[in-house]
Amino acid sequence: MRMAPVIPVLVIEDAAHAAPIAAALVAGGLPVLEVTLRTAAALDVIREMKRVPGAIVGAGTVLNPHALDDALEAGSEFIVSPGLTESLAKAAIAAGAPLLPGIANASDVMRGLDLGLDRFKFFPAEANGGIAALKAIAAPFGMARFCPTGGITQSSAANWLALDAVLCCGGSWLVGAGKDGAGPDLAAIEAAARSAAALAR
Ligand code: 3PG
Repeated sequence: MRMAPVIPVLVIEDAAHAAPIAAALVAGGLPVLEVTLRTAAALDVIREMKRVPGAIVGAGTVLNPHALDDALEAGSEFIVSPGLTESLAKAAIAAGAPLLPGIANASDVMRGLDLGLDRFKFFPAEANGGIAALKAIAAPFGMARFCPTGGITQSSAANWLALDAVLCCGGSWLVGAGKDGAGPDLAAIEAAARSAAALAR
């Protein structure tokens, strides 16, 4: 969470695009990459991205211990989930896998702290009340730190990063869908990464 101000949230359909996209993001200054398990290719994407020097590759949208096992077997170095369940948290802790579970309210944070976790994804960040909501939720939990994700953009990220409780932001804005038939626009991805990496914390 401290390695870069932004973690790109990646939804990649074609494993052939994985290494070039990862290389563009790393070159732009964003080495920490969250590959969501939302496509059939996701586990292959993780394997491909791990071959890129400097890339630190984790799995996102990890919903249960079975998906955790798959993600770890593919080489994921960290795990992100949209929510916090006891079964996933206990399995990740047992496996020694860094887990960033989603929280949306104070009760979620308390369940996470009970499980021994103190780093959380605030999700969905904008729809769940935005900066004012996270400020209020974080206030009682001095030990907790957050990665807001969901609806954040290059222009809003700076305001989130200004919060003491925020170590980084997540977002899918860095990698566009790519034009029909064409591969990913690697120059645009690297430029977007460079702008995001320059955000102050
Ligand atoms: C996630 O999976 O964390 C979010 O869907 C990313 O949200 P965004 O697409 O609004 O950045």
